[in-house]
Amino acid sequence: MSKFWSKIVHQLTPYVPGEQPKINNLVKLNTNENPYGPSPKVLEALQKEAADTLRLYPDPNSDALKKAIAEYHGLSVNQVFVGNGSDEVLAHTFNALLKHDLPILFPDVTYSFYPVYCGLYEINFETVALSNAFEIQVDDYLKPNGGIIFPNPNAPTGRVLLLSEIERLLKANQDSVVIIDEAYIDFGGESAVKLVNQYPQLLVVHTLSKSRSLAGLRVGYAVGHPDLIDALHRVKDSFNSYPLDRFAQAGAIAAMQDKAYFDKTRQQVISTREKLVSELQGMGFEVLPSGANFIFARHPAHEGEALANQLRAKNIVIRHFKKPAKIAQFLRITIGTDIECQALVEALKSMV
Ligand SMILES: Cc1ncc(COP(=O)(O)O)c(C=O)c1O
Repeated sequence: MSKFWSKIVHQLTPYVPGEQPKINNLVKLNTNENPYGPSPKVLEALQKEAADTLRLYPDPNSDALKKAIAEYHGLSVNQVFVGNGSDEVLAHTFNALLKHDLPILFPDVTYSFYPVYCGLYEINFETVALSNAFEIQVDDYLKPNGGIIFPNPNAPTGRVLLLSEIERLLKANQDSVVIIDEAYIDFGGESAVKLVNQYPQLLVVHTLSKSRSLAGLRVGYAVGHPDLIDALHRVKDSFNSYPLDRFAQAGAIAAMQDKAYFDKTRQQVISTREKLVSELQGMGFEVLPSGANFIFARHPAHEGEALANQLRAKNIVIRHFKKPAKIAQFLRITIGTDIECQALVEALKSMV
């Protein structure tokens, strides 16, 4: 606290990211990173960028990257916006598209950065309760609003909303923006990207941090109607002309173009997830159906926090959320390699 702070700073409750422990030999299943490294083609592209050209600014518009993303999704370049991680894309989205008179809507259990952006940009919001089975129910969003945002699959539940339900929401909600945060869509569920040409109020946000193994490079993007993209550019160019450096642009292009590697690694994560789910169910855990690279599970006889602490003592890190109370018993477990997940299972066997 300081008298030098701007007024808004006193009111902020910043987001707290999952821990990045500075200890070797941990089984790290806490921040939904990919257990496999990026495509070898990405590493090659990064090495090429380590050159004299680093003295020059990068392309402020990331044109070549936008082209690679547009080609991947079968869209036009003017339907693509890129940013420094999807967190930055989301921040600009809140500022550019979600600040209106009516409150915006998002689930009561969801990505906990959303209320933080609302605090930063002074946006009113209302949370909408998930069902008892932790599902998003479209009917509950059919009311006046300043915009709607949720992840699909949702985080931290992993539950998928059917594309037909998203389309039902879009049909009923044409006067405010609907943002679908598809950080985890490549691990399950059907992408809403295929609806952006039909619905001018739809913006879909993706990240290269999860299914393309590039959390360390910080690249995310949004696709939607050119008018929505234009709003994001106006905010970005009033904030930072060069959010993506030369490495990020080159690495992200290579990642978007190496579809074979992307498919191989995401299939591996999906197959490990299915094995882990059945092992945990065999031990009495209730596991929510997941379309993500993590699962959300609870054991009826054990507190989530206690299990998380015991795992930590065995050098296994998973994520436990104290709030809201209805998820306090759950553990969010990122899907690692088969070996990492087996280590988790063995450790849990001695605890439950
Ligand atoms: C739902 C959701 N959206 C967005 C992000 C941000 O990802 P990044 O900023 O790494 O692109 C995350 C990260 O965990 C997430 O869980």
